[in-house]
Amino acid sequence: MEVVRQSITVLCEVDHQNDRATLDRWLANKRPESFESWIANPENFCVVAESEGIVRGVGLLHGSGEIRLLYISPGYQHRGLGRRIHSALEIHALSLDLPKLRLESTRRARPFYEALGYIPAGAEKAHFGVLRVYPYEKPLSPK
Ligand SMILES: CC(C)(COP(=O)(O)OP(=O)(O)OC[C@H]1O[C@@H](n2cnc3c(N)ncnc32)[C@H](O)[C@@H]1OP(=O)(O)O)[C@@H](O)C(=O)NCCC(=O)NCCS
Repeated sequence: MEVVRQSITVLCEVDHQNDRATLDRWLANKRPESFESWIANPENFCVVAESEGIVRGVGLLHGSGEIRLLYISPGYQHRGLGRRIHSALEIHALSLDLPKLRLESTRRARPFYEALGYIPAGAEKAHFGVLRVYPYEKPLSPK
């Protein structure tokens, strides 16, 4: 969860705009006990990426096809960790015969998801204050 908290705080500045209230609301449920309950839920599939034995990235897919977490630690972006985490989630989604992946992207992550084949799936939404999220989806076709 520390990876998620750091990633939001440091890398998503363009999203929270250093608005304290927004950041507090965004981080409110990003606590170790929340994470424990998420990974204990059999409907969730969680992947981490390590560098030199330390967790530097995390992804979480819900069985509905929604990617609910995809965060890389500050200083570890642009090394392919996000792409690899996404690939593991996608392979799992295919194993569940899901027709598509869905998510709500931060502004920060939009070019990343678009590079991975996601297409916009609706109007942006307000969250937690100044944060705007952008719905995307990616149809899946078995290879
Ligand atoms: C978005 C995020 C997950 C991407 O992870 P990453 O490990 O940096 O991405 P990768 O190195 O695997 O990049 C994969 C591809 O995405 C594209 N990409 C990634 N970041 C990009 C950027 N800022 N601008 C344009 N393209 C980008 C590139 O095409 C890249 O392909 P390449 O390596 O062949 O050039 C990471 O930057 C992050 O944690 N951001 C902050 C948290 C966040 O917003 N998470 C999303 C929540 S919905």
